[in-house]
Amino acid sequence: MTARFFDLEAIGLRLLEDSRHRAVMLRGRGIVPCLALIEVGEDPQSAAYVTRKIEDCKKVGIDVRKVVLLQSVTQSALLAQVQMLDADNAVSGILVQLPLPSHLDEDAVIRAISPHKDVDGLHPVNLLSLTTAEPSIIPCTVSGIDALLSETGLALDGARVAILGRGKLVGLPASLLLSGQSRNTTVTVLHRKTKNLGNILKNSDIIIAAAGSAHLVTPDMVGAGAVVIDVGMSWPEGMLCGDVHPDVAEVAGWMTPPDRSFGVMTRMMLLKTVLDLAEKKATT
Ligand code: GUN
Repeated sequence: MTARFFDLEAIGLRLLEDSRHRAVMLRGRGIVPCLALIEVGEDPQSAAYVTRKIEDCKKVGIDVRKVVLLQSVTQSALLAQVQMLDADNAVSGILVQLPLPSHLDEDAVIRAISPHKDVDGLHPVNLLSLTTAEPSIIPCTVSGIDALLSETGLALDGARVAILGRGKLVGLPASLLLSGQSRNTTVTVLHRKTKNLGNILKNSDIIIAAAGSAHLVTPDMVGAGAVVIDVGMSWPEGMLCGDVHPDVAEVAGWMTPPDRSFGVMTRMMLLKTVLDLAEKKATT
């Protein structure tokens, strides 16, 4: 079997056009969607992510408020900034670029954002809602994964899903959404202490790799026809690498392309979420 690769460029373009259309419609009703972005310190990768998010917002007609704080900012100064944006009626959603410098308490910062302005969907109230029949805000990368699963046309009810990694941004929320009342799959979360990793993967209909461990998933671990979605990133010897070995394409049914282009899904889902929040605010 040779896997069918998700056409991320085409799906991304479709999502971009959809957001552009929604922003025009909202503006026509006098609603200006606005994303507040907080960047702390000078991590070049975080800065690049933030720049790309601003470009994407501009393309579709979402206003941006960018706040850059020094690496040495205190927890209370950061919280004060979040609270100010949270109280600002013109701001539809707030995103604090992660990771934060190690002296800051990320979870406390996330909790300081009102659940209805939490674009990342990481506030405990929003995380809990992922398990319900109607999740409120799905974290962007997980929303991208979910959209790809829809593309396959596969019935999710009862499907066996293996999630590699239990991180805050992907593994944890993906496990809550996919095992919850809305998606109804059977999820196994795999992590560095998991025994018989290969056996569990081999018996899964869907594999979501978000461990950040280069080429951890090899063809012998994947069942014929499985859907394999790789969002893992690591840089062994300075080269960006996914969690899934490219040869997995020889056994999988569907697979993300090995060119590491999944990022477009995360970026497009951020735009969708900002528009969802702006729309919801206008109707409540
Ligand atoms: N850093 C890398 N990915 C993300 C994300 O999805 N949200 C935030 N806030 N920070 C990130």
